[in-house]
Amino acid sequence: MRVLFLFATILVAAVLAVDQQTHPSMQGMQSLSISYETPEQFSLLKNYVDDPGFDFVRSTNDLVDVLVTADKIEEFKQLLEEHRMNYTVMIEDVQQLVTEEYITQEVERRLQAGTQDYASGRLSFTYYPNYKEVNEYLTYLTQTYKNIASLITIGNSYEGRSMKVLKLSTGGANKPAIFIDAGIHAREWIAPATALYMVDLMLQSHRDLLSKVDWYVLPVLNPDGYEYTHSSSANRLWRKTRSNTGSTCRGVDGNRNYDMQWMTIGASSDPCSDTYAGPKPFSEVENQHLRDFILARKGQIKAYLTFHSYGQYILYPWGWTSNVPANEPELRNLAIQCAQAIAKSRRTRYTYGTSYNALYPNSGCSDDWAMDKAGIKLSFTYELPGGNYGDLLPASEIKPVGIETFEALKVTHQYVTSKY
Ligand code: ARG
Ligand code: ZN
Repeated sequence: MRVLFLFATILVAAVLAVDQQTHPSMQGMQSLSISYETPEQFSLLKNYVDDPGFDFVRSTNDLVDVLVTADKIEEFKQLLEEHRMNYTVMIEDVQQLVTEEYITQEVERRLQAGTQDYASGRLSFTYYPNYKEVNEYLTYLTQTYKNIASLITIGNSYEGRSMKVLKLSTGGANKPAIFIDAGIHAREWIAPATALYMVDLMLQSHRDLLSKVDWYVLPVLNPDGYEYTHSSSANRLWRKTRSNTGSTCRGVDGNRNYDMQWMTIGASSDPCSDTYAGPKPFSEVENQHLRDFILARKGQIKAYLTFHSYGQYILYPWGWTSNVPANEPELRNLAIQCAQAIAKSRRTRYTYGTSYNALYPNSGCSDDWAMDKAGIKLSFTYELPGGNYGDLLPASEIKPVGIETFEALKVTHQYVTSKY
C-alpha cells in the first residue's frame, strides 16, 4: 500500500508540478488516542503538555489525542505500556496523510479549475478553499445574490489580509441577527468550509432562514494562520496567528486572547506554546476587529456561534470557571435540541455542556467574551467532527458535515425568531 502510494504521490506531484508541504516536525509524527482512568495516569500525560514534541490536540475527562514527533514516539509508547494505558494509533504517519490530503486537494481543485463555476468564484466544496478562494466565493455571492448578500471589510490581519464579514439580509429594520465565525484556529479547515457551505445552503434552498433574521458570517477569523497552513513551504498543523511575539516563536492562540479572564486558566505565557495567550488581552489585531464589529452591533446580535474542530461538542460558557451562567437551562436546552437535530440527520453524536465541564478549563475565549462583554445571551462553540483524522479530515466530509450542522443552525434560527 505504502509503496503504491509513494508511486502515486511522485506521479501526481510530477504531473501537477507543485511542491508539496513537507515539514521536518511531521516526518514520522503519529497521532495517538490515549485513554486514562486514574489521576496518576492523567498527571503522567500532563507532564508532556509543554514538551515541544507533543501537541495535545484534544482532551476530555477520559481520553486525549496527542501528536507526537518521531524522535519521541517510541519512548512515549513504552511509557504508556509500562503504565498500562490503552492507546490507539489514529494516524500512523502525519506527513503521509498531509501529502495525501495535498494531492487530493490539488486534483479536486484542478478538476474544478476549468469550469464556468470556478471562473465565477463559486466553490464546489469538494476541496478546502484557500484564503483567496474564500474571498472569491464571497464576491461571487454578492454578485449573484445582489439584494441579499453584501460584504463588510472589518480591517486587515497582522500580515495585511483583508477580513470580510458576509452579511445576509433581506432588508427591514430592527431584525435580530446571528453572528458566525470560523477559522480562528488555522488548521481546523472543516470550520470555514462548514460555515461557507451552510451559507450556500441558505442562499440556494433555505431562504426562509433569511426572512426574519440577518446573518453575519466571518469565515476566516485568522487569515494569516489559515494561509500558512495552506502554503507548501509551511506547516499544515499551525494553530495560532502569525504575529511577531518578540521571541523566536511566532503567533498567539486567538482563542486565549480575549479580554475575558485573560491568562487565568488553561492558557500559556510561553510564546512557543500552542495556547499562548499573547502579551496582553486583544493583542491580536484580528480579534480587535471582531470585537469592534460585534460591539458596534451589540443589541442586534442575539446569537454568537464560533466553529472549531474537532471532537463533536456543543459548548457554552463558561470556560474559565465550573460555575454556570444564569441562563444555563436555556443554553442547555438549545444545545440538546441542536445535538438531537444533528443526530437525526446523520447519527453523529455530539456532547454538550459548559466548556469548563464538558471539555477543559480555559480562559480568554471568544464565546465567554461574547456572552459577558457583548451581552449575547446565546453563545456557542461548535467542535465539528474529525472522524479518524482529526483536523486532517478529508474534504469529502465538507458537504456531509455541512448538511448535518445546518440542522443545528435551523434549530438555533427557530429559537432566535421565537424569542426575539
Ligand atoms: N477547542 C477550543 C479551544 O481550545 C475550545 C474553546 C471552548 N470555549 C471556551 N470558552 N473554553 O480554544
Ligand atoms: Zn479550535
